[in-house]
Amino acid sequence: ARLVVLVSGGGSNLAALMSACADPAYGATVVAVGADRTGTGGVALAEDAGIATFVTRVGDYPNRQAWDHALTAAVAAHEPDLVISAGFLKLCGPEFVARFSGRYLNTHNSLLPSFAGIRGPADALAYGVKLAGATLFVVDEGVDTGVVLAQVAVPVEFDDTEDSLLERIKTAERAQLVDVVGRMCREGWSVAGRRTRIGS
Ligand code: GRF
Repeated sequence: ARLVVLVSGGGSNLAALMSACADPAYGATVVAVGADRTGTGGVALAEDAGIATFVTRVGDYPNRQAWDHALTAAVAAHEPDLVISAGFLKLCGPEFVARFSGRYLNTHNSLLPSFAGIRGPADALAYGVKLAGATLFVVDEGVDTGVVLAQVAVPVEFDDTEDSLLERIKTAERAQLVDVVGRMCREGWSVAGRRTRIGS
C-alpha cells in the first residue's frame, strides 16, 4: 500500500513508519512526505531516505480554500492508499477531507474525546487523570472528532513532567501507529457508523 505522511515537526512517527516499511512483509511504502512549513525534521528524514517531499504553506496561497486545493493536489499526485497526519499541525479543509475520505488518518496524543487540540498531554497532566495515551482515528471535518481506529493507554506517574509524559505517550503512539497501519494495509478495514474494524 502507498502511504503519504504529513508532518509539521520532528517526524518520530514518520521515522517509525519508515523503518517498518523497510521490511517488505510490512505491506506498505512511504511514497511521499508533505509538510505545511519549511525546515521540518520530518521532511529532512524523508529527503535523506530518498523519499519524495513537498511543502505546501498556507501563506503561499490567497486563502485557506486555495491552500486546501493545492495540498489535495500535492497529495493526490502520489496516489496514496492511506494519508497519515503524524504531527501535522493544520486542520485540512473540506476538499482534502472529502477526497481522502475514510483513508485519511491522524494520530493524536490523548485518549479522545478527552483533551482534543494541540495541548493534549499538558491538559491531561493539568487535569490529573491517571491514564493518558494516544488515539489513531479517521479524520473528518472536525477537530479530533473522527471515528476511532485504535487507542493505547499509558499511566500518568505522580512525578511526571510534560516532557516525561509526552515521551511515554509518544513511545506507545509510535508502536500503535506502526501496528495498526500495517494491519490495515495487509488485512483491510471497515467503518460502519462510529464503529471500526481492522482486518476482515
Ligand atoms: C505526536 O505526538 C502527535 O500526536 C502530535 O504531535 C506529535 C508528533 O510527533 N500531534 P512527531 O513529529 O511524529 O515526532
